[in-house]
Formats: sequence, C-alpha cells, structure tokens
Amino acid sequence: DWQTDNFIEASLAEIRAKIGDKKVLCALSGGVDSSVAAMLVHKAVGKQLTCIFVDNGLLRKNEAEQVEQLFRQELDLQLICVDAKERFLNQLAGVSDPEEKRKRIGETFIRVFEDEAKKIGEVDFLVQGTIYPDVIESGAGHAAVIKSHHNVGGLPDVVDFKELIEPLRLLFKDEVRTVGAALGLPSYLVNRQPFPGPGLAIRVIGEVTEPKLAILRAADYIFRSEIEAADLEEEVWQYFAVLTGIRTVGVMGDERTYHYTLGLRAVSSVDGMTADWSRLPLPLLAKISNRIVNEVEQVNRIVYDITSKPPATIEWE
Ligand code: XMP
Repeated sequence: DWQTDNFIEASLAEIRAKIGDKKVLCALSGGVDSSVAAMLVHKAVGKQLTCIFVDNGLLRKNEAEQVEQLFRQELDLQLICVDAKERFLNQLAGVSDPEEKRKRIGETFIRVFEDEAKKIGEVDFLVQGTIYPDVIESGAGHAAVIKSHHNVGGLPDVVDFKELIEPLRLLFKDEVRTVGAALGLPSYLVNRQPFPGPGLAIRVIGEVTEPKLAILRAADYIFRSEIEAADLEEEVWQYFAVLTGIRTVGVMGDERTYHYTLGLRAVSSVDGMTADWSRLPLPLLAKISNRIVNEVEQVNRIVYDITSKPPATIEWE
C-alpha cells in the first residue's frame, strides 16, 4: 500500500543521507526486526553494509543454513557467518541457573561480535532492529525485571561506533512485518514466531550440552512441522519444545528405558506479557507425541504445558 511505500522511500533517503559513502555494520539474528532493518539498509547502501550472523549453536534445526541461504545467496547481502558454537558451549559448561546462562550468552555474543567487527576495520555506523515497543520499554525503566532480555542495549555500549541506525524505531511489530514483506522478505521470515536471544539454552532445563541440544532440536522440529502442517501457526503465538532434566522409566519393545521427559508449550498471546495455553486438538497432540517418542532417541515421555501466564511464564526458564 502507499503508506508502506512512502515509509520505505523516506527511510531509504534518510539512510543514504546519513551514511553517505561510509561503512555500516549489522548484527543479523535471523529474527524479524534485524532482518527487516538490514534489508532497508541494504536497499539504501548495498555493499557498504556488512552483516554479521553469529551461529551460537543454540539455534533451531536448519536455522543457520536458512539465514545464510536467504541473505547471501538469494538477497546478495554482504554476510559474514561466524561459527561460534564451541565458544558458547564452553561458556555454558557447568551452568544451570537461567539468569547466569543469559548473562554468559549475552557477554559471549558481544565478544564474538567485537572480534569480527575488528577484522572489518573502521566502521562508522551500526544498524539495530529496535522497534517502537522496545523504545518505550527501555525508556520507561520497568520496575520488575523478571528476566533479563538482551534485545535492547548491550552492543552500542561496548562497541564504539559513531552512530546508530535504527530505521524501525517508530514502527509497531505488524508494521515491521508489512515493510518486510514489501521489501521482498519471505513470509516464513516476516511472520516468524518470537524466538528468544538465548535460544535453545533456556529450553534445555539445567546444564546445556550438545547431546541435549540435539534431542531438543529434533523434537522441536517435529512439533513445529506438525503445527505448520495443521495450519495452526497463525492461531498460536509461540510453540516449542522444552527438554526437562527429568528422566523417567518407560518401556520400548521388551526393554526398560530410562529417558527424558519432553515438554510441549503452545500459547496464544498479543504481546507476550500475558498468554493463554493453546487448546490444540487432541488428535494432533497424539500424533506429535507418537512421532517424537518414535523418532527421537532418549525421549520416552511427553507432557503438554497447560498453564497460562501469569502465573507461569511462556518460557520454562
Ligand atoms: P516469558 O517467558 O518471560 O517470555 O513469558 C515472554 C516473551 O519473551 C521471550 N523471551 C526472551 N526473549 N531474550 C529474548 O530475546 C530472553 O532472554 C527471553 N526470555 C523470554 C519469550 O520467548 C516470549 O516471547
């Protein structure tokens, strides 16, 4: 529509005027906001923009490959993919406290990003996918910080850039999606469900290890595929699997097993502040449960989370 086109035109002109012939950097997460912000700046200044995508090893199945394929191959952005899986896993070894996990992941991200930025040399601008609700939230100084989030702030404090480029700072989420679609980003990306910065690390309860991540990734992929096959992804705000630290006794063929209990979480919500658990069709839950216990080793029991927020939170950690 014309409003979106107007926004894009004005935004491109503003970005070009600001950046001139200088270099600009963007931390691309593969989420909606950073992707749309990067696309706008790419449209404005092309290869003066370098995007850095950090693979922290805490992503869902196929996610890193998808980002690389889309942004480098199809959209021709200058993209650096950093394989930092080991660095993150090492930092997480022995850590089971959720806030400590978040802290270490946030710090490691900044260090990895800084190391890459140094290699690029003199850069004057940093693109951030800050959207209007982030601006209000960080400005209002919320009293109750229940979980530390890493979406706003962080980077610019540590990395010394001359100026921030925040092309989405006046947009609401639905407007960001509209702009993203108008810029040619695929629907699976612009309509993507929220995914926390610390990724699967806060969905593996307790200590995070690669074998546990592999179990969670496989189960989560089945759950997501089935929700999407049932065309429910627009009704459900967020849907994901959680690997609990609980192991229980089961039976497989003639053998006794002692494997993990996996939690499934699906909620409806408007803004994530409150949420209701989704009344998924029972036959669908049955199918998902069967598939996961049959296809994923080390899982012999599935539970469905029927708590709303409050008193629970959406994530388990
Ligand atoms: P909770 O679990 O607090 O989640 O009900 C509300 C929304 O925030 C997301 N979430 C996070 N996002 N870093 C993020 O970027 C985090 O540490 C984090 N913790 C929760 C969660 O997925 C949900 O959409």
